[in-house]
Amino acid sequence: MKPIGNFSDQSLLRVLRRELLALKTFCALPFCLGIITSCSDKTDLEAPTELSEAEAESLWKEAPDAEGVPGLVKAMDHEDGAYAQVCAACHGSRGEGNEEIKSPSIAGLPAWYIEEQFRKFRKGERGIHLDDLQGQQMRAIALTLTEDQITEAAETVSNLPIILTEAPGPDAQIEKGRYLFANECMECHRYNGKGEVVFKSAQLISLNRSYIRRQLENFHEGKRGTAETDAYGNKMVNVTSGLSDEEIDLLVDYIGALAHGDDPRPARDR
Ligand code: HEC
Ligand code: HEC
Repeated sequence: MKPIGNFSDQSLLRVLRRELLALKTFCALPFCLGIITSCSDKTDLEAPTELSEAEAESLWKEAPDAEGVPGLVKAMDHEDGAYAQVCAACHGSRGEGNEEIKSPSIAGLPAWYIEEQFRKFRKGERGIHLDDLQGQQMRAIALTLTEDQITEAAETVSNLPIILTEAPGPDAQIEKGRYLFANECMECHRYNGKGEVVFKSAQLISLNRSYIRRQLENFHEGKRGTAETDAYGNKMVNVTSGLSDEEIDLLVDYIGALAHGDDPRPARDR
């Protein structure tokens, strides 16, 4: 597999090699002992890092996993760090996600959570179930990045302004949802749905409704969180195992309400 996240590194390497070759030829002239020393300094000469349109195109064609991802070449044609180069194509320039390709809104997710999910994707704790196409897609991306690129991308994403889950429609049964959330979810995801690093639980109030529904179904159907080593995912599998379709609807609506200020705590605890 060709590393998608390493495009600029690869091109940099190629440029450096070309540069080195030219320098070596030059330095091979017998009389220039002195120049050799200055040449070795010059190996870290400024190399052009911008990819040309054609270079990006050809690298793109070498990356079989990336085929069919709209806009990826364009997003990688400049080098503003991993987010702009790789993630923005699918998650949007503001991290808002894309319903069409079912990528979630990730803006403002905590960096620890993002790094944890990358670890899971890479390790095969997430995104390996045959019917989890979106998870597989994200796993393929996660495998192409270096640890440094992941840390850097996670930092960028966590600093993007949070985009709140859409508020529920006027017919939503907020009261029932609140009751369910308070009893089944609040313990780990906290009263404000922001998650808790100690429990490694996710921030919920910035996720798209369709994504929340799909993940609850994924856990429920065993497409996520079932790996033996995935203790925290296992918890979500347990929690969702008894949920009905209607209850999932109630929870999706309620997370929207939570994002817009509802408080599930009993009055005495507020
Ligand atoms: C090819 C499209 C694509 C690219 C490129 C991509 N993602 Fe994703 N990403 C997805 C999809 C689709 C999902 C949903 C996976 C699922 O449903 O389980 C996802 C899920 C995620 C999640 C899990 C969110 C959660 O709430 O658990 C994180 C975090 C994430 N992506 C971060 C990134 C970062 C950071 C980058 C860039 C380094 C990136 N993604 C690049 C498509 C992509
Ligand atoms: C015992 C603790 C615990 C309880 C109770 C719990 N969760 Fe979770 N939840 C987690 C953890 C931990 C994760 C992260 C799983 C992972 O890393 O894959 C998570 C993940 C999720 C996700 C996926 C988020 C994402 O960004 O992909 C959703 C949605 C979710 N929980 C909703 C709920 C709802 C709704 C309830 C109540 C019915 C609930 N959780 C109850 C611990 C819990």
